[in-house]
Amino acid sequence: MTIRWLLSDLLGRVPYSAVMGPTDVVVTGITCDSREVAKGDIFAALKGLKADGRDFVPEALAKGARVILSHAEPLDALPEGVSWVVCPRDREAFSAACSALFGTEGNPVRLAGITGTNGKTTCAYLLRSIFVQAGGAGMLGTIEYDTGDGLFPAVRTTPEAHFIHRWLRGLAEKGIPYAAMEVSSHSLALARVAHLQFMAAGFTNLTRDHLDFHETMEAYYQTKKGLFDLLDPDGAAVVNLEDPYGVRLSGELHRRKVITVGGKKPADLRPEGLAMDLSGICCTFKTPFGDVPVRSSLTGRFNLENLLVAVGTALATGVSTEHAAAGIAALTGVPGRMERVASGQPFTVLVDYAHTDDALKNLLQTVRELGPERIITVFGCGGDRDRTKRPLMGAVAARLSDILLLTSDNPRTENPEDIARDAEQGIKPELGSGKVYERILDRRAAVRKALEMARAGDVVVVAGKGHERVQLTGTTKREFHDPTVVRELLGEMGWA
Ligand SMILES: Nc1ncnc2c1ncn2[C@@H]1O[C@H](COP(=O)(O)OP(=O)(O)OP(=O)(O)O)[C@@H](O)[C@H]1O
Ligand SMILES: [Mg+2]
Repeated sequence: MTIRWLLSDLLGRVPYSAVMGPTDVVVTGITCDSREVAKGDIFAALKGLKADGRDFVPEALAKGARVILSHAEPLDALPEGVSWVVCPRDREAFSAACSALFGTEGNPVRLAGITGTNGKTTCAYLLRSIFVQAGGAGMLGTIEYDTGDGLFPAVRTTPEAHFIHRWLRGLAEKGIPYAAMEVSSHSLALARVAHLQFMAAGFTNLTRDHLDFHETMEAYYQTKKGLFDLLDPDGAAVVNLEDPYGVRLSGELHRRKVITVGGKKPADLRPEGLAMDLSGICCTFKTPFGDVPVRSSLTGRFNLENLLVAVGTALATGVSTEHAAAGIAALTGVPGRMERVASGQPFTVLVDYAHTDDALKNLLQTVRELGPERIITVFGCGGDRDRTKRPLMGAVAARLSDILLLTSDNPRTENPEDIARDAEQGIKPELGSGKVYERILDRRAAVRKALEMARAGDVVVVAGKGHERVQLTGTTKREFHDPTVVRELLGEMGWA
């Protein structure tokens, strides 16, 4: 990927208010992270939530940046030969410059985006699986970034604009036809995705979350809605009518093609002949594009909604119903999202990263609906984090489980005993007749105990850490991956 742009040409594409220094310079890259500046790059010194990017200009210049794009004027006198572009709408300008430099206008890759409070990661995995059937895919999301020929651990759900556009350019150069990405509300608010054009955009749901950032539900909703302004003129919005905000959204997207999904009519995509149990979901999706036979290893009410949103989004991106069906069948699970660990044992083990009382409630209710004999839950509360949610989590876990094993979940610098005591305030009042409760602070020992107690037809739920790979105790990081630990313990018990 070679980039060579004359700054004067680039300025035609970027909203700016003033330029200092020469404009006949050649730029060969762009970033907003001073640590990754290479010679010839533009350094975007953005106004951050905490830091001012201008503080990092000396470092960027030392690394060879010769053009600075910033929300305000330089803090110091400009060295000879350095250009400074003042862009009051700095993030939009940065995004526009990234799009121009990486040449991503005109949809070189058919891009699908997913937004909503929950389900983005699951939908992105489903989309990737479907797109792979249809010829190849890239993916950006909470757990990993997929460049089509390599996987990288994700830093954040939706990365900065230069990363996204570099990734898209890379996919285009490799001839990869499709891409799926989770679009977080932060990325919409911070214009990281401002110059993308989506062939399809899916909406899962909206519940109270991230209000520290967005302040009100209305602001949060409006931010999410912004994704649908980024649709290609031929693109479609795919909206979940099972969520009240989805119903609202579907009525507000004027001049857009809208495909609705839900449990029943009038939803455009809906399941027929639904059979759902602990092993998965089986049904036919009736869609405007034709029937899609669904045989999925994902299960639970909300995964049915995720399947509907993902399939609607894939079909709207231009994939065939056959490829959609094959992609659904090929996805055996999503890391840490009701992830099933199966080694031939006669009970079900699910690992999920639900780590709030709400998520835990949702998860355990969903498991209950699938008709298990008993639910055996292993969970803990994080240390150095919101203490008030501990009794709430404890109460929900105790109320909705038959057997509850309280353990540690990243105690950090707190005493695990103290954390457990907070959770027990919520647990104790819920311990009615027949409920079994035990506190086993060593997480591996707690998981082992749960697996030993489980009988045929039971479900063991290991909640809280999901795809995480470490346990943080004190200031030390120890490798700990719930699915791996479960697999090891099942092996020790003779299941292979
Ligand atoms: N459609 C849904 N509705 C409610 N809960 C869901 C839904 N899909 C998944 N979940 C549950 O919510 C949690 C988050 O799911 P997932 O990771 O797919 O969502 P996300 O939107 O990517 O969230 P995040 O922004 O935290 O990455 C998990 O515990 C999962 O089991
Ligand atoms: Mg996610």
